Amino acid sequence: MRTPSSSRRRASRSLAGSRPDAGGGLGRRRFLSSLPVLGAGAALLGGCATQEGAVTGVDRVLSISLGQAESHPSYGSLVSFGERIAEATDGRYGARVYANNSLGDQQETVQLVSDGAIDMAVISGTQIENSSPRFLPMNVPGVFDDIDHQNRVMLDEAIVGELFASLEPQMRLTVLGGYTQGSRHLYTAQGPIESVEDLAGLKIRVQESEIFLRLIDAIGGVPTPMAYSEVYTGLQAGVLDGAENNEVSYVTQRHYEVAGHFTLTNHLIGFDFLLANTDLLEEMDERDAEALRAAWAETQSEFVEIWKQETEKMTAQMLDRGVTITDPDPEVFAPLIEEVGLSILEHPDDLALYEAIRAAAEGGDA
Ligand code: GCU
Repeated sequence: MRTPSSSRRRASRSLAGSRPDAGGGLGRRRFLSSLPVLGAGAALLGGCATQEGAVTGVDRVLSISLGQAESHPSYGSLVSFGERIAEATDGRYGARVYANNSLGDQQETVQLVSDGAIDMAVISGTQIENSSPRFLPMNVPGVFDDIDHQNRVMLDEAIVGELFASLEPQMRLTVLGGYTQGSRHLYTAQGPIESVEDLAGLKIRVQESEIFLRLIDAIGGVPTPMAYSEVYTGLQAGVLDGAENNEVSYVTQRHYEVAGHFTLTNHLIGFDFLLANTDLLEEMDERDAEALRAAWAETQSEFVEIWKQETEKMTAQMLDRGVTITDPDPEVFAPLIEEVGLSILEHPDDLALYEAIRAAAEGGDA
């Protein structure tokens, strides 16, 4: 089992050569270097729930980075994950969730988990795709029928087992699974958007990914890559005319305040992957590592129902707040979106994975 002191050694080693944050104050990296100490501190506090998002009274508090606000359901779900870990390991491990990208933007946290400076992080499918193109088929329009199909696939060892372990040798990253992002849609400051012409020339924020660039281009917009945390101000300042996401992120990030027209394009069902540092898992007692994985599988499946309820709740809130929701004619965007999906996979391995995922759909169509 890894002890707080050995993890402190490892974290300080991995942070040693890093550039200090500009701008003074408690820089992000200096803050990070205190993480393992927080774990030890929590143990000393003995059962006092003093840290937000943390299970305290455990020997080792695992850090989990999240890009979402505390109001997003993944935050509460990760806190429950920590509680499950604590219970299943008899208090040898717990977790603390760092929301709002406070440990770094998603792309940056991939490296920090790889280095062992953070134990786990939730990152969008696009970031994992940037680390390894083998994940591409998971992020393609039309690959999943619905979120139940997606969850089934993500828990199916025969389909994802090898892929989820594929980053271990080079990057020391283990994919434990993840959270559904549900269906993603488009939203704009001006609207409604009912046709390709309505979208012409509008700058739409996308995640930094080839699929999203192609998608927005195909439906008439001008794709504009930008980090998630900058979208609100981008829309507010008029640097962006719109963005794309699910209902839950749209509301929890308050994007409705600056882009009040929501268009149900259903362009793809996204996934947020949960990454863990492989050394951490290998250094844990085998039963504890197993317990952590089992706690995650339970958390992930439970989230699917939570997600459905939250999506309904957020849709109701959108209507209450005066958002215009447009459901365009399926003939307008769907064929263009489908074409992007079909054209993006070229490598035989990608096509094989795509087919395995499709075969796991309810009707089993490959
Ligand atoms: C969703 C997803 C995030 C992602 C974000 C984005 O909210 O859950 O992981 O970062 O979309 O568009 O960047």
